[in-house]
Amino acid sequence: PKIIFIDHAGERRDVEAKAGTSVMEAAVQNMIPGIDADCGGACACATCHVFVGEAFLSKLKAKDDMEDSMLDFAEGVQDNSRLSCQILMSDELNGIEITTPESQ
Ligand code: FES
Repeated sequence: PKIIFIDHAGERRDVEAKAGTSVMEAAVQNMIPGIDADCGGACACATCHVFVGEAFLSKLKAKDDMEDSMLDFAEGVQDNSRLSCQILMSDELNGIEITTPESQ
C-alpha cells in the first residue's frame, strides 16, 4: 500500500510500503525527512510524531494509553496527531496522507 508523505514545506513523497510495515519504518527506509524515531518503534520517544490525513483517521486503530501518553511529549500536537510507529500499513490504508512536523 502507498503512503503519501508531505513535509512541513508541502513537498510530497510517495512511498510503497509492505503491508504490516509501520509508517515510521517506511519513512526511515525511504529517508523521509521529519521523522526521527529515536526509540526504534517502541512507543517510547514520540519523535515519530505525524499528522494523519482526515480521510484516514477513522480507519486507524484507536490510540492505546501508551501512545496517548507519549504524545504528550510531542510538539504541536493536534487532533490528528499519531505516532507513526504505531500505524501499521494495510491495504485499507492505501493512499494514506501523512504530514510530518517541522521538528521533533
Ligand atoms: Fe519512538 Fe515511535 S519511534 S515512539
